[in-house]
Amino acid sequence: MIRIFSILIGAFFSLALLLAFGTGAYSYITEPPAKTAEARFHLKPEHLDLPSNGWFGKYDKAQLQRGFKVYSEVCAACHSIKHVAFRDLKALGYNEAQVKTIAAKFTVTAKDPLTGEVKDRPGVPADRFPTVAYAGKGVPPDLSLITKARHGGGGYVHSLLTGYADPATYKNAAGEALPKENQPGDGLYFNPYFANLNLSMPAPITSEGQVTYDDGTKATVEQMSKDVSAFLVWTAEPELEKRHQTGAWWMGFLLFATVLAYMSYRNIWADKKGH
Ligand code: HEC
Repeated sequence: MIRIFSILIGAFFSLALLLAFGTGAYSYITEPPAKTAEARFHLKPEHLDLPSNGWFGKYDKAQLQRGFKVYSEVCAACHSIKHVAFRDLKALGYNEAQVKTIAAKFTVTAKDPLTGEVKDRPGVPADRFPTVAYAGKGVPPDLSLITKARHGGGGYVHSLLTGYADPATYKNAAGEALPKENQPGDGLYFNPYFANLNLSMPAPITSEGQVTYDDGTKATVEQMSKDVSAFLVWTAEPELEKRHQTGAWWMGFLLFATVLAYMSYRNIWADKKGH
């Protein structure tokens, strides 16, 4: 008797669960939850072709130098790269004297080793890039690691820089105009690559020739955005080339070891098989 009772109770609960699941699944299929405007308008970062991509990728020093120029003349007004020391720039192909000149252009707040007094002085190669005091709206993040911190890396930075659009006329892929409540408020700028569609950074790269490249490359908006993204990929992983080299060495070694193992297997079994 008790057995039947417990079976009945069990069946009842199973039925209730099944019913709950069934109605939930049914309403999900017939009336899927409405996507928020943020989800409908937010764009995934575009892929950016950089020489450092892929297993054997290497940095293009000329491009990194151009990117550094864009960073120092445009972005450095608001963003720091505090994990980078001036002497790290030697990896971009600058010599000692050039690094000294670059460092001296920045003001660093540091302890005087003789008096212990904290004061401002021109930078030296061993200093890191100083932090930046920013008085505008929003908080410009430090950019040293941004390409590691954001999905899409260098591609994200490039998409963000080139992705600003006019919120009044913008249409998403489905042809929808931006809803009123997603229009940028005061001091905000519309950019579909930014997670919530509006950010407090005005488009920093807007006109051709905004910087003058030393190597004669034409400074289009696209070129400058690409170069500065490449530079920020480097600041986030200056050891990339070494990592790729080590990887290639190990792949070669494993291949060699495999061939060797196969040959010794053949050798050992050469006169023993088939008897
Ligand atoms: C006028 C100041 C200013 C300049 C110049 C500027 N930025 Fe920004 N940037 C900001 C502010 C403020 C934010 C924070 C935006 C927010 O969170 O709403 C920001 C955010 C960012 C972000 C982070 C976006 C995210 O996903 O959180 C990146 C990347 C960025 N800037 C790159 C650059 C690059 C590259 C340059 C130079 C080409 C540059 N910025 C120039 C002010 C500036």
